[in-house]
Amino acid sequence: MSGVNEIRSTFLDYFRKNGHEVVSSSPLVPRNDPTLMFTNAGMVQFKNVFTGLEKRPYSTAATAQKCVRAGGKHNDLDNVGYTARHHTFFEMLGNFSFGDYFKERAIELAWNLITKEFGLDAKRLLVTVYHTDDEAFGLWKKIAGLSDDRIIRIPTSDNFWAMGDTGPCGPCSEIFYDHGDHIWGGPPGSPEEDGDRFIEIWNLVFMQYEQVTKEERIDLPRPSIDTGMGLERVAAVLQGQHDNYDIDLFRALISASEEATGVKAEGEHRGSHRVIADHLRSSAFLIADGVLPSNEGRGYVLRRIMRRAMRHAQLLGARDPLLWKLLPALIQQMGRAYPELVRAESLISETLKLEENRFRKTLERGLSLLSDATNTLHKGDMLDGETAFKLYDTYGFPLDLTQDALRAREIGVDISGFTDAMERQKAEARSHWTGSGDKATETIWFELKEKHGATEFLGYDMEMAEGVVQAIVRDGKAVDSASAGEQVQVVVNQTPFYGESGGQMGDTGVISTDNGKLDVSDTQKKGEGLFVHVATVAEGTLKVGDAVALTVDHARRSRLRSNHSATHLLHEALREVLGTHVAQKGSLVAPERLRFDVSHPKPMSAEELQKVEDMANAIILQNAPVTTRLMSVDDAIAEGAMALFGEKYGDEVRVVAMGKAIEGPKAGKPYSVELCGGTHVNATGDIGLVRILGESAVGAGVRRVEAVTGEAARTYLAEQDERVKTLAGALKVQPAELVSRVEALIDERRKLEKELADARRRLAMGGGQGGSAGDFKEIGGIKFMGKALNGIDAKDLKGLADEGKASLGSGVVTLIGVSEDGKASAVVAVTPDLVDRFSAVDLVRIASVALGGKGGGGRPDMAQAGGPDGAKASEALDAVAAALDA
Ligand code: ALA
Repeated sequence: MSGVNEIRSTFLDYFRKNGHEVVSSSPLVPRNDPTLMFTNAGMVQFKNVFTGLEKRPYSTAATAQKCVRAGGKHNDLDNVGYTARHHTFFEMLGNFSFGDYFKERAIELAWNLITKEFGLDAKRLLVTVYHTDDEAFGLWKKIAGLSDDRIIRIPTSDNFWAMGDTGPCGPCSEIFYDHGDHIWGGPPGSPEEDGDRFIEIWNLVFMQYEQVTKEERIDLPRPSIDTGMGLERVAAVLQGQHDNYDIDLFRALISASEEATGVKAEGEHRGSHRVIADHLRSSAFLIADGVLPSNEGRGYVLRRIMRRAMRHAQLLGARDPLLWKLLPALIQQMGRAYPELVRAESLISETLKLEENRFRKTLERGLSLLSDATNTLHKGDMLDGETAFKLYDTYGFPLDLTQDALRAREIGVDISGFTDAMERQKAEARSHWTGSGDKATETIWFELKEKHGATEFLGYDMEMAEGVVQAIVRDGKAVDSASAGEQVQVVVNQTPFYGESGGQMGDTGVISTDNGKLDVSDTQKKGEGLFVHVATVAEGTLKVGDAVALTVDHARRSRLRSNHSATHLLHEALREVLGTHVAQKGSLVAPERLRFDVSHPKPMSAEELQKVEDMANAIILQNAPVTTRLMSVDDAIAEGAMALFGEKYGDEVRVVAMGKAIEGPKAGKPYSVELCGGTHVNATGDIGLVRILGESAVGAGVRRVEAVTGEAARTYLAEQDERVKTLAGALKVQPAELVSRVEALIDERRKLEKELADARRRLAMGGGQGGSAGDFKEIGGIKFMGKALNGIDAKDLKGLADEGKASLGSGVVTLIGVSEDGKASAVVAVTPDLVDRFSAVDLVRIASVALGGKGGGGRPDMAQAGGPDGAKASEALDAVAAALDA
C-alpha cells in the first residue's frame, strides 16, 4: 500500500522516465485566465501552450497540480463532509502533450502506469470513450486488450471535456475502477451509474479544438493531450479504501483533529472532522498562494471555507481556535511536496487564528439566534430570508454556513428573501453616497462598485494577469466601448495594477485585447473598492465584456517597491537616531525617488542623516525576507507595528515586517514593522542601496527627507563620482587629495582677498599714510577730507573714515564708495572736538540727498547713508563741504 506522497512521486517519476518535463504546480490563483476564480485542473497553467499562444522549451509535461473547487463554476463546498469524494482542495495528477504524442501514446502511457507501476488489476478497470470516437475505442482494444463491453461509448458532454465556455477542449476517455459488487452502482452510461461502485480515476482528454466563442470552434494548431487523475481517489483505490477520507493523508489530519478536540470521528462527528480536514487544506494552500480572508471575491470564498470549518470545530466542542493547531499535521503530510506551505507557515497560522478568534465572537450569538428562529421549524420548512441576512450581516455567517447548519434538519433557507434584504440594505447605502458637487461626480464609481463588486487586486503576487472589462468611463459617463485616441477610465474584475494609496503612486502599463491596446498612465482607487485604470486607447477598440491582458510596467513597479520598502527602513532608522517623537506626516513613493515627511522640531544634522542612511543600508545588506501578514489592528499594534494616526484602517490590516534588529531592545526581532497596504520587495537586498539626498523644512515641526534607491542611487553616486573626478582633474590632484587642496585654495583666497582689500584701501587713501593733499581742504577753518572711492565695499568705508579722522587730527571726513553697479554709500566722520558744531548724521543726510537717497543714520561722530546715484559722488562731496561753510 502506498502513501499519497509515494503515489505522487511514482506518477511524476514515471512520466519523467518517459521523457516528460516535470513542472511545478502553478498557484491556486490563475494568472492567465480572466474569469477563473481558482485553478481547478492541471491544464490551467498550460492553456495558452495548447492554443499556441505561448511556447515552452518542452513539448510533454507532467504535474501534480493544486486545485480548488469552491466558489465560481465548480463549487463542491456544500458537499464536503457529506460524501466520500468531494473536496474543496485536491491534487490533480496529469500528463500533457503539446502537439507531441496523441491518443495512442496517451492510452499506452496511462494503461502501463496503472496496471504495471500501480499494479491495479486490469479486470477491475473499464473505460469510456466519446460515442463517435472509434479511434479511441480501437486503441483501448489494441493496447489494453479490453473487451468491447468494457469500452463504453458515452454520447453526452461527460465525455467531451471543456475548461469553460471558451478555451481548449476535446473528446475524452475516462478510466473507471470497480470497487466491487458489495457497493451499489452500475457502470457509466447505465441507469445505476450514479451509484458509488464504479469510480472514475483518470480522465484523458484528446485536446483537438479551441472554443473561441460560444458558437465558434476551431482546430488547435496540433492535437494535444491533457489528462487528470484525482490523487485522493487513486490513493483510495491503491490503499484498498472506498472513501477518499480514509486514505493515509486524511487519516493523519483527522486524527490530529480528534486529538485536539478529544472527540472521535464517529457518528455525527465524522462529517465535522472531514470538513475540518478538507477546509484546512484549502485554507492553508489559498493563504500560501496569497489569498487572505475578506468580504469580496476570492477572499470571501476563503472566508466562507474557513468559517464553515470553524462552525464544525465549534460543533465538536472546541473552545479555542482549532484550525491553526492542525497546521503542523498538514505541513508534515504535504510540506515536502509543497514547500510554499512551510514558507508561509506563520502567515497561515496567524491568519487562521485571527479569523477564528474574530468569528468566535459572534458565532455563539449567531447560532443561538439561528436556533431561536428555527426551533418551531420542521423538516422541509424554510428559514426566513430576513434572519439569514441578519446572520450574514451582523454575525458574519456566510449564507452557505447557515444552509450547512440547517442541512442536517433538512430545513432550507429562503434565498430570495435573503437577496431582498441585501438589496434593501444596498439601497440604504446608496442614499448616503448620492450627494452634490464632488460627491455627485464620484457617484458613478459607487454605482459601478455596487453593480460589479470590488476589484480584486492581484498585484501583491503578480504583475501580469487577465481580466474582464466591467466598465469603461469616458468624460464621467459609462460607455460600451472606446476607440483609438480616446482617454478613458477602465474597470476590470481583477487587476495586478496597484491603485494609488498610502503615498505609493498608481501603476502604469498596458492593457491589451485581441483587437486593441491601451496605455495605462495611472491607476486610482475609487468608490471604496474599485481600481480604475486611467488609460488612452493606443490601437483598436475596447469593449465592455472584453477579456484583457493586464501588464504592469515591471521596471517602474520594481522601483516603486524598492522605494516603498526603503521608506519603511528610513522611518525606523529616523526614530532610532532622532527619537520616538518621529512620526510619519506624509509620504510619496514615486518610481524615481521617495519623499518622507516626519515630525521633528529642528533641522537634522549631516551626521544624523548619515547615521540614518547607514542603518537603513545595514538592513538592506542583511537581505532579510520581507514578510506580510494579516492581523487585527490591535494585535498588529501589540506587535509594535507603526500605525498612522488619523489613517482609516479596516478590521484587518496588512502588517509588513522587514529586517532583523541587531541591537537594542528589539534585537533579534523584525527591524521595521508597519501597517501598510503597499507593494514591497521580497527581500531587503532587492532595494540595493538607499541614498539620502537631503532634508528640508515643510512646515512647523515637520521635516522632509528625500532619498533614492537602487539604480537611481547608483546613478546619483556615479554622477557625484564623475564630478569629483572632473574637479580633481581641474585641480590636478588625485581625488583623495581634493579636500586638502580645496581647503588650501580657500585659505589662499582668503589671504589674497585680505591683501587685495588692504591694497585697495591704501590706494584709496592716497597710496600711503596720511592722505593726499588733493582731497583735503580747509573750509572756514575746518579740515575737510572728501573722497569718492570706486570699488570699495560699504563695509570698509567706516574703517577708512577712522583712518581719515586720525590723519586729520581735527576735522570732518566724508567718503563715498561707488560700487560696480553704480550705487553709492556714504560715510561721514566728525572728530570729537567738532561734534558740538557738526553732526555726522546731518551731514550724511545731505550727501544722501545728493546721491538720490533718502536719509541715513548713525551717531554724531560717525554716520552712514546710501543712494542709487553713484555718478553724483562729487556733487555729494561738494554739498557736505558747503554745509561746513554755512
Ligand atoms: N482537464 C481534465 C479534467 O480536469 C483532465 O478532468
